[in-house]
Amino acid sequence: MSERWTPDSWRNKPIQQVPVYADEKALGQVEQQLAGFPPLVFAGEARKLKRSLAKVAAGESFLLQGGDCAESFAEHSADNIRDFFRVFLQMAVVLTFAGGSPVVKIGRVAGQFAKPRSAPTETVDGVELPSYRGDIINDIAFTGEGREPDPRRQLMAYRQAAATLNLLRAFATGGYANLENAHRWMLGFVKDSPQSSRYRELAERITETMDFMKAIGIDPEVHPEMRTTDFYTSHEALLLGYEQAMTRVDSTTGDWYATSGHMLWIGDRTRDPDEAHVEYVRGIKNPIGLKCGPSLTPDGLIRLIDVLNPENEPGRLTLICRFGADKVFDHLPALIRAVKREGRTVIWSCDPMHGNTIKSASGYKTRPFEMVMGEVRNFFAVHQGEGTHAGGVHLEMTGKNVTECTGGARAVTDADLRDRYHTYCDPRLNADQALEIAFLTAELIKRERQSRGRPHPVAAE
Ligand code: PEP
Ligand code: CO
Repeated sequence: MSERWTPDSWRNKPIQQVPVYADEKALGQVEQQLAGFPPLVFAGEARKLKRSLAKVAAGESFLLQGGDCAESFAEHSADNIRDFFRVFLQMAVVLTFAGGSPVVKIGRVAGQFAKPRSAPTETVDGVELPSYRGDIINDIAFTGEGREPDPRRQLMAYRQAAATLNLLRAFATGGYANLENAHRWMLGFVKDSPQSSRYRELAERITETMDFMKAIGIDPEVHPEMRTTDFYTSHEALLLGYEQAMTRVDSTTGDWYATSGHMLWIGDRTRDPDEAHVEYVRGIKNPIGLKCGPSLTPDGLIRLIDVLNPENEPGRLTLICRFGADKVFDHLPALIRAVKREGRTVIWSCDPMHGNTIKSASGYKTRPFEMVMGEVRNFFAVHQGEGTHAGGVHLEMTGKNVTECTGGARAVTDADLRDRYHTYCDPRLNADQALEIAFLTAELIKRERQSRGRPHPVAAE
């Protein structure tokens, strides 16, 4: 690892998952143009998020991160953004109540466009074309023209991210995020759910609390904090030319920040400590995430933490674990022990999506709800055993009623998948499934909270 970091020092490193642009000159012009555009987020916001995440690291908060696997140009609409935000807020209310502590809300949104792929090309009926790498790079349509990486797409992605963020900011601060709204929507979900009885108790306790608060004069009319919320954006830092162009010096501190989103993460396929993606991300001061899959060893993790968070700053680094439901017990305990042994401060979050993708009998890429929830349960169980805080969940979800993941209370079957399978990449939880995950995770959070303070089984021996 070279000592000196600059926004372009990643260019001297080996790199994975890069698109090949035919017109290098046009690419350079686009990057130059982007570099002159306004930032999408501000350094002060990223610092505020880092402070909130530090509380998660300390066991005092919970992180909810979620959104599309890949945002698309075609699905860019006010309705989609609103429906996503609405479900996300309801989830946050349920989790906040269960934990009796704040929930840090981060969308995979307003910039989640670039996708790593398992192969550089795709062959259909004997025709081989470049793989789809996300709308910021090429088109999902399987044609030679569509699959050609086009730098102008980066400008479209920037504009879409700006418009999405604009609406999200309005929702978060303009009254839509009112706690009473989120509560009312959530009651609608509980009433209609086939698992209604399971969720009713928690919902009723939230209602009683809201009534009590109102009775003593705490309501959104007088308390602006009940009308607004802090909502942040995140995406995978994959397309580094775009990220470099959006990297700016913060005038108040002189530090470099990524301004394409509040939090950026490194994918499981691009986390080699000697390569370009880790090099770029180590130099920005934003809170960052690191995907941790089954191939990550405890030593490998410590080496990455040395590079990514050398000052052991709380809130800087979120480890997003994605092993697969049945592999959590094999991999997570050793990582947790290494981090504890080395005295590192991290946030442990669970991505129960990427290790649980299967091909259904009908040929669709899907994720069974039970496996998704199973990974979350196992994640909590391991943390319970190690005496550490299960700090968050990272979900691929949408506010729409899609049929992409099977199962859930309103059981989506294999045969249903073809009805509304709209994702541009991986299968997402639909609105009901996402809320169910929140209710079921709330039970786990409550259990962790209740057992806190009890002697830890290892410490007690
Ligand atoms: C993703 O989050 O969409 C993704 C590609 O995940 P991972 O890097 O963990 O495979
Ligand atoms: Co995905």
